[in-house]
Amino acid sequence: PVSMPGTPPRSTVTDKYAFAFDIDGVLIRGGKPIPEAIEAMKMLNGENSYGIKIPYIFVTNGGGKTEQERCIQLSQQLEIEVSPGQFICGHTPMREMAEKYGTVLVVGGEGEKCRTVAEGYGFKDVVTPGDIIKDNQDTTPFRKLTEEEYKDSRPRGFSKINIEAIFVFADSRDWAGDQQIILDLLMSKNGRLGTRSETFDDGPPVFFSHNDVVWSASHDLTRLGMGALRLSLEAMFKAITSKELNTTAFGKPQIGTFQFATRLLQQWRKDTHGIDSPPDTVYFVGDTPESDVRGTNEFNKQSENTWYSILVRTGVYQEGTKPKFTPRATVDNVLEAVKHGMEREY
Ligand code: G3P
Ligand code: MG
Repeated sequence: PVSMPGTPPRSTVTDKYAFAFDIDGVLIRGGKPIPEAIEAMKMLNGENSYGIKIPYIFVTNGGGKTEQERCIQLSQQLEIEVSPGQFICGHTPMREMAEKYGTVLVVGGEGEKCRTVAEGYGFKDVVTPGDIIKDNQDTTPFRKLTEEEYKDSRPRGFSKINIEAIFVFADSRDWAGDQQIILDLLMSKNGRLGTRSETFDDGPPVFFSHNDVVWSASHDLTRLGMGALRLSLEAMFKAITSKELNTTAFGKPQIGTFQFATRLLQQWRKDTHGIDSPPDTVYFVGDTPESDVRGTNEFNKQSENTWYSILVRTGVYQEGTKPKFTPRATVDNVLEAVKHGMEREY
């Protein structure tokens, strides 16, 4: 039930609308909260003139840790309690691929964290670049494993194993080494290291957890992201083999990610607030036109006009340029975005 302005019963939860937030460039930059983010969260939790709470979820293209671990970190950063039941990161939908492949290469992130994430998703046999380098250090002439990487890596007889798929879970910490290994597999016979295909069309498929070419970190200007690694790999594959490389990206702006988010929000509203009906409007607050605005607008067309894109000026999008995809509203920061959505409702 929605409370009317005027005599608001404290802590009533609205069933009419909800918010979904991008993280980098909207709530966080370089590990630190954007100043207005903490107040925005308080508003959603009932500290507003209408005296209502508004359900919300987080949809980030980022990753590299388990959802559980990331929620603990986000809870500290935003001074609220964030549950994995309201959180999706770039690699969350990859969970659904775990059954399909046997041995897979998992790339990206700090140390061995992404191996843990993939195993948690149910992937049966996860290989990392570290395993391959430890098995044959000539793989990457300019990359030596650190002591810790050496200790954690699990080498084995790769000449007898076919790697069936490649998953880039998080940003590569070593582009040269990781790209060398990915290219070796793409040019191999059926994913067997040490072999070369004659046709270059029987390598394993490659999946990226998102396609952001740039993103918003602590530097004033945008930084290269996973989409840049993808472009680079496609260009190198073409230069070396004269063939096109087809890769697949998850995350925003993919419709599948927004469908996943819709299911998550539905479950979250039901479990925590007892709401059974779908919301009339989901306000999506993002900073990257190509991922956040594009995905929200495209999904809106398929979801009976329920998703509403709000672009903020605290991240990738910079004032003075025309965004490639037009949001329903552009505001200075996430607090203004929350106010905009609320004002539209009453
Ligand atoms: O690597 C993360 C970045 O590309 C985007 O994260 O939260 O803005 O979707 P986010
Ligand atoms: Mg962002």
